[in-house]
Amino acid sequence: MTSEVADSTVENVIGTYSLPLGLALNFRVNEIDRIVPLAVEEPSVIAAASSAARLVRRSGGFTAQTLGNLMTGQIELRGVKDAERSIEALIQSKSTLVETGNAAVPNLVQRGGGVRELEVRDLGRETLVLHFQIDCRDAMGANLVNTVAEALGAKVASIAHARLGLRILTNLCDQRRVLARCRIALADLESTDAETQANSSAGLATALAIEEASNFAAIDPYRAATHNKGIMNGIDSVVIATGNDFRAVEAGAHAWAARAGRYGSLAEWHVEGEYLTGSLELPLALGIVGGTIRVHRVAQWALRLLGVNSASELSEIVACVGLASNFSALRALATEGIQRGHMSLQARSVALAAGARPDEVDIVAARLADTGPTNEMTARTLLDRLRAAKAERLP
Ligand code: MEV
Repeated sequence: MTSEVADSTVENVIGTYSLPLGLALNFRVNEIDRIVPLAVEEPSVIAAASSAARLVRRSGGFTAQTLGNLMTGQIELRGVKDAERSIEALIQSKSTLVETGNAAVPNLVQRGGGVRELEVRDLGRETLVLHFQIDCRDAMGANLVNTVAEALGAKVASIAHARLGLRILTNLCDQRRVLARCRIALADLESTDAETQANSSAGLATALAIEEASNFAAIDPYRAATHNKGIMNGIDSVVIATGNDFRAVEAGAHAWAARAGRYGSLAEWHVEGEYLTGSLELPLALGIVGGTIRVHRVAQWALRLLGVNSASELSEIVACVGLASNFSALRALATEGIQRGHMSLQARSVALAAGARPDEVDIVAARLADTGPTNEMTARTLLDRLRAAKAERLP
């Protein structure tokens, strides 16, 4: 994003802020190959997603489906004296309310979207909340939902004989969810190290360890938070690369994870026959038009690279990247731990931070990974040694 665009996007701009942009490879989703752009500063996220996708690909690739495509807006009604009558009156007025809502977003209606459903929830304490479900087509839809909510507010309050409260979308967009699935052949989970390879059940042992790790997240909110963080490593990175609102996605994902009244995991893994199977379900409000995408050239490029034709297609790929990230994290945690792989990738950024030039980074990182500890002081020592050795060789 140029400084000029940034200046007209937010307030008090002093510059722009960049992140590494990389490509996750090997993804096959619903039988289509995809190269997936990820914007992320954390080492190993891209490598982990790519290596999981390679294994999944050998067993046929990911499948993903959109479970509903509707955003939800809320209109809060306070001081409701007779909740039953107000609810009845609102339900009776459904068609006029849908008409009023749609009149506020004529372009969306022209594109085949618009308000579809109404529902009223009684929150007690003389408070009702009207939910309207709206098809935002290929937009993320926050502005569309909020426009309709504000256009409908006064009429809804008058029908319900209530005081008008807040009018805003909910980020718990549970009518716009995605379900991603994959399977990995147990044989493909066998370790590459010779000793474990000799053991023919090594693949099954790894799969069972991953299943146990998944069960841990299912029963413990503390573990579920970290398990889900690993999922969001992949999800947020694509969401950011494609110019979408990652805060909205995060809010929706965690609210969905807590829908049973207790925080739980978003993805689970089971051993089934000769395969380890994984599934991930979460709300995802993403767009391929509107918002930041209109002005962000890299986001536009990222969407072209992905080759998606609809917001649902994008959401399906994003969910698969989340599932891939989760698999790699669990595999590492359930076997050798994450630090070895993480540290060898981290070594490059530590070498850079210690002052290594581009032609020195890989050498210092390799020596750092060999000798450890992976910190800036050791990197500086190794860099000094490298430069001294080079100087000695000079005529
Ligand atoms: C680190 O960014 C993510 C992990 O902690 C996820 C997990 O524990 O499942 C490795």
